[in-house]
Amino acid sequence: MKIRSPIVSVLGHVDHGKTTLLDHIRGTAIAAREAGGITQHIGATEIPMQIIEKICGKFLKRFSIKERLPGLFFIDTPGHEAFTTLRKRGGALADLAILIVDINEGFKPQTYEALNILKMYKTPFIVAANKIDKISGWQVHEDMPFMDTFPLQASNVQERLETKVYELVGSLHEEGFASERFDRITDFTRQISIIPISAKTGEGIPELLTMLMGLAQQYLKKQLEIEPDAPAKGTVLEVKEEKGLGTTLDAIIYDGIIKDNDQIALITPDDIITTRIRSLLKPRPLEEMRETRKRFQKVNEVVAAAGIKIVAPNIDDVIPGSPLRVIKDDIKSIKDELQKEIEDVKIVTKDEGIIVKADTLGSLEAMVKLLEDLKVPIKIADIGDVSRKDVVNAQIAKQENELYGVIIAFNVKVLPSAMEEIKASKIKLFQGNVIYRLMEEYQEWMEKIKE
Ligand code: GTP
Ligand code: MG
Ligand code: NA
Repeated sequence: MKIRSPIVSVLGHVDHGKTTLLDHIRGTAIAAREAGGITQHIGATEIPMQIIEKICGKFLKRFSIKERLPGLFFIDTPGHEAFTTLRKRGGALADLAILIVDINEGFKPQTYEALNILKMYKTPFIVAANKIDKISGWQVHEDMPFMDTFPLQASNVQERLETKVYELVGSLHEEGFASERFDRITDFTRQISIIPISAKTGEGIPELLTMLMGLAQQYLKKQLEIEPDAPAKGTVLEVKEEKGLGTTLDAIIYDGIIKDNDQIALITPDDIITTRIRSLLKPRPLEEMRETRKRFQKVNEVVAAAGIKIVAPNIDDVIPGSPLRVIKDDIKSIKDELQKEIEDVKIVTKDEGIIVKADTLGSLEAMVKLLEDLKVPIKIADIGDVSRKDVVNAQIAKQENELYGVIIAFNVKVLPSAMEEIKASKIKLFQGNVIYRLMEEYQEWMEKIKE
């Protein structure tokens, strides 16, 4: 039995330090080079266990799981509000997560959003209280464990940090989570650990990674076992043109093994397609997938969890967020499985309900889930721009119930003919690129109508 690397997603509000944390762990400087200083794609990096051991030192001794793990596979997500879909995709893939919060700012909108994603998927997580070096009066001790640097701080600085940690404890409590500073936790099964760190100076990172390994040991033993010949399962992150390669797929393999020349199944807006891998590329360990355009290595096979680039014919229409499956002998059962994945989100349709449109499978899935939580029935949920046909369907729904004459459109356009029809028929359109905001607007509108 092989053990795959756990997938650890780093989530949090914009600029709270997700990319800088990963930079510190891998010894890179990607955050500094990002356009506009923000992350706009999902990133992925494999961190070998030797690196983790080097950073954690003596702390790691008591965790037996480290002997069995090849490493940790980190996913960096964007914190900017517009990228809900990608946070969601990063969250959905995660075995474990780090919720990062700027200790000086506390919880912000995307901190809450990230927390809700973790709740939705029941992902075990720890909280990194970042930027402790910015607490006024802080004396930096590069790369020192928190338990060593904290006693070296002046007592008023210690108090400031404590106050801020308790503000985080309060915010988490309001969201239904018991939490405590990691060194004061009495019951790891019931309390979330808060680890004060500085992604910039490295202080506290030894304990952060140690707590992460503890979480892996506590929750993941069975979940990480894979059969030696298990066909790979993955998720497409991006579909893009690369000079000299043509259309390529960037994907994360979260289970099984994928090989050069494997046949794979994927989803396009109308169909399930199969194609054969022409070439399989992989970034080197410690390299951020987003940055390694020229430094991908050609490989014969990849074991989960890993980021890969696939070169293959006929993949132009593949949907970002599409599942990826390696086909072994039974094409039919895989096709049925993928069909079910499409249907799970697309055909949750009821006779009565609203119309939902989205840009990718992942975002459509997120909206359907949120609406189900609100007990809002959905007549049609589909990928693509809002068309005249969608508006006609909304009109029919409106005749049944005033509340259902609604189209919610996430990250898609409204076609001109559809816009005319919307105006003429007074169908209510909620259009935008921040999922939770669309939901809030819809809820507010619903409350008003009900009054
Ligand atoms: P998005 O991906 O855009 O959501 O941001 P992010 O969470 O990845 O934050 P990023 O790593 O881009 O950091 C934002 C800014 O905060 C950068 O200027 C970093 O240098 C700075 N920063 C991050 N961590 C720390 C820290 O621990 N201390 C200090 N002083 N600055 C930090
Ligand atoms: Mg970032
Ligand atoms: Na940033």
